Amino acid sequence: MRLFVALPLPPGVVAALDRIQRGVPGARWVPAENMHLTLRFVGDVDGADFEDLVEALAEVAVPPFNLEIAGVGHFESRQLPTLLWAGIRPSGGLKRLQAKIERACQQAGLAPETRKYSPHVTLARLGATDIGRVQAFLQRYSLFEAGIVPVEGFTLYSTHLGKGDPIYRAEVEYLFDAPAE
Ligand code: 2AM
Repeated sequence: MRLFVALPLPPGVVAALDRIQRGVPGARWVPAENMHLTLRFVGDVDGADFEDLVEALAEVAVPPFNLEIAGVGHFESRQLPTLLWAGIRPSGGLKRLQAKIERACQQAGLAPETRKYSPHVTLARLGATDIGRVQAFLQRYSLFEAGIVPVEGFTLYSTHLGKGDPIYRAEVEYLFDAPAE
């Protein structure tokens, strides 16, 4: 089973992201139902490890916080753009949550993530794309804001690969405990 931990995005944020997914011929835009903010890529695990992970993640809690989705950027490989993303304003809450999830993953027996966490919402994967159009996109939406994501929990998703876009299924939804009244 191929897994990742992520934050789902509210419909208003998804709609705002959906509106800017244009103007780059050759881009494979992420469909609205697939948009998310990854907290930890897990990869393939078997049934026993899945259960351990589900339990370890249940211990993760932070005080609820808000995230802001703002700006756009790209990743590249061998100096060619490979991915367009929407950015996340720096957030102490997100850092704390991500660190706790990383710890839980390791407690569940996963190898530590060696790559630096760089939060983003993937908008498109790029193949043979005109660099000028990519640069124009990055410039046009540099001040773009997609809105606020209230974070009151997170989700463990599984990925199902097929012919077209992957299908992501929410396996377990975790809510931080509500504060005592
Ligand atoms: P990406 O969108 O930047 O590619 C599900 O695949 C999620 O896990 C995606 O958000 C993806 O990020 C992220 N992810 C991180 N590392 C990955 C990897 N090695 N393979 C596939 N997805 C990865």
